Amino acid sequence: MNRVDGRQKVTGAAKYAAEYELPNLAYGVLVGSTITKGRLTSIDTKTAERAPGVLAVITHLNAPKAPGTKPTGKDPSQPQTVGNALQVFMDDKIRFNDQPIAVVVANTLERARFAARLVKAQYAKEKHQTNLEANKANAFLPTQAKKNPKSPAADYQRGQVDAYKTGALKLESEYVIPTEVHHPMELQAITAHWEAPDRLTLYDKTQGTMATRRDFARQWGLPEENVKVIATYVGGAFGNALHSWPHESAAIIAAKVVNRPVRLMLTREQMFTMVGYRPHTWQKIGMSATPDGKITAITHESIGQTSTYEEFVEATLGQTKMMYQSPNLTTRYRLAALDVGSPIWMRGPGEATGAFALESAMDEMAFLLNIDPMEFRLRNYTDQDPEKNRPWSSKFLKECYQAGAQRVGWNKRQLKPGALRDGEWFIGYGMGVGTFGAHRGSSKASAQLLPNGTVLLQSAVTDIGPGTGTAMTQIAADTLGLAPEKIRFEWGNSDFAQAPTQGGSAIVNTVGPAVQEACMALKDKLRELAATSNSAFTSAKKEDVAFADNYLTLSGNSTARATYADLVRQAGGTAVTVESKPSGEGQKYSMYSFSVHFAEVRVHELTGEVRVSKLVSCADAGTIINEKTAGNQMKGGAVGGIGMALMEHAIIDDRFGRYVTKDLADYHVPVQADSPAIEVFFVNQPDPYVNKLGTKGIGEIATIGVAPAIANAVFNATGKRVRELPITPDKLV
Ligand code: MOS
Repeated sequence: MNRVDGRQKVTGAAKYAAEYELPNLAYGVLVGSTITKGRLTSIDTKTAERAPGVLAVITHLNAPKAPGTKPTGKDPSQPQTVGNALQVFMDDKIRFNDQPIAVVVANTLERARFAARLVKAQYAKEKHQTNLEANKANAFLPTQAKKNPKSPAADYQRGQVDAYKTGALKLESEYVIPTEVHHPMELQAITAHWEAPDRLTLYDKTQGTMATRRDFARQWGLPEENVKVIATYVGGAFGNALHSWPHESAAIIAAKVVNRPVRLMLTREQMFTMVGYRPHTWQKIGMSATPDGKITAITHESIGQTSTYEEFVEATLGQTKMMYQSPNLTTRYRLAALDVGSPIWMRGPGEATGAFALESAMDEMAFLLNIDPMEFRLRNYTDQDPEKNRPWSSKFLKECYQAGAQRVGWNKRQLKPGALRDGEWFIGYGMGVGTFGAHRGSSKASAQLLPNGTVLLQSAVTDIGPGTGTAMTQIAADTLGLAPEKIRFEWGNSDFAQAPTQGGSAIVNTVGPAVQEACMALKDKLRELAATSNSAFTSAKKEDVAFADNYLTLSGNSTARATYADLVRQAGGTAVTVESKPSGEGQKYSMYSFSVHFAEVRVHELTGEVRVSKLVSCADAGTIINEKTAGNQMKGGAVGGIGMALMEHAIIDDRFGRYVTKDLADYHVPVQADSPAIEVFFVNQPDPYVNKLGTKGIGEIATIGVAPAIANAVFNATGKRVRELPITPDKLV
C-alpha cells in the first residue's frame, strides 16, 4: 500500500509547523550568546527596538515569567521529565555557546532577522570546558544510577569483575564517536498562538503532541485541555523533537508579549547548538575468548558528554549485556558534563554508539582467532537472554545472518585483510549486529463509523516520516474488512485519543493494537445494532457474522444482510474509544527486535576514499505491516549509518567553545551518490507476545550496527582498524 500522505507531501499540500498562515502573524528570531560560559553583564536592545517593524525585543530583563518555570539546572539528574530543561530568558547565566539570550519579534521575518543583528551583549566570561577527552577524568556515575542500583545506567556485573584481564586470548580497544547532529530536512519550527489569555495553540515540530502539551501547560500553569498541539506533518526528526527546547518557550513568551501569533523557525546553524545531538562518546572494550572462539569475558566502559544543566543518559551498554554468551561481563557508564547544550536521543540512541564498539570488538576478536566473524558470532549466539535469564519473546537473528550473508556475497570474503582488489580499489566485507527493545506502552484510539460507510480514526500520535498513518490505515482496513480508501486516519493533534510520543521504535507496537481493538469494538457495536434491528441477526452467533465491504452478512443465510449506513443511521452514531495496554508478558519474556547489516566497501589505495558498494540490512522485527514503508525505514536508517561511519562529525573549536561546522556544506551527510542501492530483508515472523499484531519495531535497528559493519569492511579491505569515527580518508592513507 502506498503512503496515505504521499500525495500531500509531494504536491506541497502538507503543512508543516512554520507554514500555518494565521492572521496578524509575527516572526521571532533568536539571538545567541557569543561566549560559552559566564554571565550577561549588559544587553543593549535599543537600536533593535527602533528598527522598522520591530514589535518587541525580549531578554531576561523583561521576559514575563511563566508560573511553572523552574530554574535551569536546579536538578540536572531529572532530565527529560521536565521537558524543557533550559528555561530561556530567566537568568543572566550563559551555559553554552549560542544559548538564546534574546528573541526579536517583528512584523516580517526579514525585519526580525535584521534587528536581531543589532542586539549587543556584554559578558563576564568564565573559562569553559567543551572537550570530552580533556574531561574524562571528571566523569561521574549518573545520579539516577547512584539512587537506583537497578537503573540501566548503573554498573552491571555478572561473573567476575574485569575477568578479561586474566584471559589467555584477549584484546583491549578504545573507540570514539564524535558529536553527530540529527539534521532532519525540516528545521525546528513553531507557530505559537495565544487564542485567549489562558488558551494556547501550538503548531509545532514535535514527536509528541501530548508531551509538548503537558510541558507547556505545566510551564504556564494551565489545565492541559487549554493547550492544543498540532503536528500533522513532521519533516523528519530522528529524535531531536523528543523533548521541548528553548526556541519553543521563546516563541510562546514572544506571542504572549506581542499578543499576536508568533512563528519561529531555527536556522540550520542553530540546529547545531540548541536542539540536541548524539553525544560525543568514548568507549573501551576488553574481551577475552577461548582458542575455539567462545567469549569468556567482556568489559565495556563508556563516557558520554552531557550538559552542565541536564544529565542525559542513554543505553550505550545495553546491547553488550544481552547480545552474546559471556559468563563474565562488566559495564560502567559515566557522564562528563561540559559547557554545551544538552544531547538528546538520536536514532538508535546509545545502542548505535555502543554497537560501534561491541561489533568492532567482535570483528577484532574474530581476526585474532582467525575465525570468520559470522561464525564467531554464531559460536556465541544466545538462545535466551543472558542478562535477565529469560526466554526471548522471539528471535530470528540466525535467519537474518543467513539471508544477509547470501545477499552480500559473504562467501567472497577473505579472512586475510587486503586480499581482494579491483585495480586500485581494495574490496572488503563486514557485518554488524543491532538490537533494540520491542517496547510497547499504553495508547488509546478512537474510531467512528460514519453514515456514508467510511470510518474515521483519530490518534494524537505523530508521523515523523516512518509511515505511521499508512500502517494504521492498513491495520484498520484489515480488521474491519474495509477498503483502505474507506478509512481516514487522522493524527498529530493533542486533542485526539491519547497516544505516546513517537520514538523508541514503539509506535506500531503501541498504537497499532489500539487501532486494531478500536476497530474490533466497532464491529461488536455493529453486531449489536444488527441484532436489535434485523431479526436475522438477533440469534446469530458472533463467529457467523461476517464483515464485508459496507455490510454485515451471516453465514448459512444468504438473504441476511445489514448495511453499515442503515445501522449507523438507526443508532445515531457509532463512536468508540478504546485503550490498549501491554499484556504483562514482558515480565516473562525478553522482547527485542534484531538486525544485522552486511557491507561491501571499496577503498582506494592512494586516496583512502571509501565507497560503500553494497549494503544489505536484514531485520527480525516481527510482523511487517507494510513492506514498503518498513523497507523505507530500513533504508533510511542504513543511510544514517553510512553517515555515522564515514562522514558525520560536528566539530567544536574548543578555544571558543563554538561549532565550526555550521551548515550542511561543512557537516556532511550521505547524498544519493554516497549510498548504494540498499537491499532489505525481513524475516517477517510474528512475535507471539509483544501484541496481537506480532510486531516488534524497526526504527532503531535500522541504524544500530550499520557503522561497525562498514568499519569492519574497511578493515577487511585494508587491514586498517579505525576506532574513531568518522572513517575519513586521512585515517586510511
Ligand atoms: Mo527516536 S531516537 O526514538 O526518535
